[in-house]
Amino acid sequence: MTPVFVLTNHKGGVGKSTSATTIAFGIANVLRHAQAANSRVLLVDTDSQAHATLITTGHKDYGVDDSLYSVLMADRQNAPHILTQCIVPSLWDTDLHVLPASPLLEGAERELMGVAGAPYRLADPLSKIANLYAAVVIDTRPSFSLMTEIGLIAGTDAIVPVEPRYLETVGLMSVIGKINEIREGWRHPNLRISGILVTKVDKRVRGHNDLLGDIKAHSVLGKLLCGVIPANEAVSYAHRNHESIFTYDPNAPASKAYTQLVATLVRRMGGA
Ligand SMILES: Nc1ncnc2c1ncn2[C@@H]1O[C@H](COP(=O)(O)OP(=O)(O)OP(=O)(O)O)[C@@H](O)[C@H]1O
Ligand SMILES: [Mg+2]
Repeated sequence: MTPVFVLTNHKGGVGKSTSATTIAFGIANVLRHAQAANSRVLLVDTDSQAHATLITTGHKDYGVDDSLYSVLMADRQNAPHILTQCIVPSLWDTDLHVLPASPLLEGAERELMGVAGAPYRLADPLSKIANLYAAVVIDTRPSFSLMTEIGLIAGTDAIVPVEPRYLETVGLMSVIGKINEIREGWRHPNLRISGILVTKVDKRVRGHNDLLGDIKAHSVLGKLLCGVIPANEAVSYAHRNHESIFTYDPNAPASKAYTQLVATLVRRMGGA
């Protein structure tokens, strides 16, 4: 089964889009270098802000006919076909494809209220085409709204990026509770919490080290920690250039940390 990674946290600005795009590009690269039979990765952007879409495709003006919005609004039978039609190549890598978000997703939640089977409107068509890809990576919006549920119900592996700030880490258990609720409530046993990713860590800041120590020592969170990404200005510069951090500066501290994370994820996929 194709792994579907979902980057999620209801907190804003914690590195969901940075991590989703970097992981997607990284997996495609590692698999290609390992000469895997299939190294294609699909990035699905479920956030109406369309940041992941913008940095990987150079556009954020996708709409009624060419975005995730079109898939969510399609007839059930037609949805897999529409999904295939809406996927675009990325600017980053021939093996990285993107199902773009649209600003219209903002209103889609209201439009989907009361529509039977609404939470499955990504999971169902995606399951029909996922085998074309070695992995799928889903970026979500900063809230546990219907759109995020739609992303999680399509997922197999939730990854929770979090900044090393006290109140953010206090909220972590509730994020984990929410993901567990979605697994149980929607009877989606394939969804597991695959990891906590601590982002924007500045080792010179005592508070960051303390919080990292607390997470490592925590009986639940410690086992889930899957990576630590340093605070690194190169990430913002890469975004401004619509480039991956790996391409912008392969030697940047954030590149090295994401390389390690991607290696861990690919190992778990059994791919290289
Ligand atoms: N490791 C890092 N070092 C420095 N800046 C970073 C790092 N990771 C992300 N950023 C910056 O932090 C900001 C937020 O990152 P990002 O957009 O990935 O977060 P997000 O969780 O997707 O935000 P939102 O909740 O709004 O969707 C961006 O300006 C990004 O360039
Ligand atoms: Mg984002």
